[in-house]
Amino acid sequence: MSGFSVSWLDLREAADHAARDAGLGEAAGRFLRDGPGAVVDLGGGTGSTFRALGGSSGPLLHGHPCRLVDLDAGLLAEATARDPAIAAHPADLSGVDDLPIGDARLVTASALLDLVSADWLHALARRLSACGAGLYAALTYDGRMAFSPPHPLDGAVTAAFNRHQRGDKGFGPALGPDAAEAAAGILRASGFSVTAATSDWRLGSADAALARPLVEGIAAAAGEAGLGPDEAAGWLAFRLAHLAGGEILVGHRDLLALPPADGQTDDIEAGLREADAGEFASEEDVARIIERYTGRRPEP
Ligand SMILES: C[S@@+](CC[C@H](N)C(=O)[O-])C[C@H]1O[C@@H](n2cnc3c(N)ncnc32)[C@H](O)[C@@H]1O
Repeated sequence: MSGFSVSWLDLREAADHAARDAGLGEAAGRFLRDGPGAVVDLGGGTGSTFRALGGSSGPLLHGHPCRLVDLDAGLLAEATARDPAIAAHPADLSGVDDLPIGDARLVTASALLDLVSADWLHALARRLSACGAGLYAALTYDGRMAFSPPHPLDGAVTAAFNRHQRGDKGFGPALGPDAAEAAAGILRASGFSVTAATSDWRLGSADAALARPLVEGIAAAAGEAGLGPDEAAGWLAFRLAHLAGGEILVGHRDLLALPPADGQTDDIEAGLREADAGEFASEEDVARIIERYTGRRPEP
């Protein structure tokens, strides 16, 4: 048990899918289409990311082994019941060196990066570089919340909730609201070509089934992070009374990080032309050029 129930993940899935940045999803799809390799979803829960990408047999993922890594056996069982072609891989993600991503073309995650630490992200960036894989990480909470109608404690509740987000979630001190920016910086520094976009939840009257447990969870976390119990209870009562007719924005970011090799296709071609312009580009020349730009030596 991870603390993330099937019912909560089901409740949030429609809002998640509506919020994802369509352009980044399409760019992740183009990257996937251009090469072989597995798609490995970290902290995949019941398989929401694979569904967002059209399912394992959809045109995007078809032909790519789909692997879902999670430590919650109940969520893994649910994921494979819903899509039997997904290979469930039970594991604790905190051990980055043991993540089964050696054959990955694309590593994915959703609603995960805000749980992890800076050390974890550095370790993941190293593994992604070594594998030559891209990362498509969607729906990272970014610290922004906005509520309508306003309540005088909205700012204090958001600040306390964000403090709570920085607690250790099993990966060291969590980056919480800073995770999306930190991930982009760390991956860029590792040579990845990074694109980010907002993917905010915008919940209105029709989303009360999700908004109710959301505001209950926010109030509870804010209470644990130092907001007074009377303040937390008063804010929650106000929010529950305005589920109908009110609006809630929860800020998220999507991120696509493509490995240097793919960003440098033109450089490789230029290198090959350069060698070709000499007398003769031997196999050794070609291997050397590819290794220079990709960090990998091609099979003889
Ligand atoms: C917020 S849920 C997101 C689930 C799914 N990606 C989605 O978008 O519906 C976080 C997921 O990370 C998993 N998780 C959290 N900590 C983990 C850890 N240390 N090792 C493996 N999985 C973990 C949970 O079991 C849960 O499925």
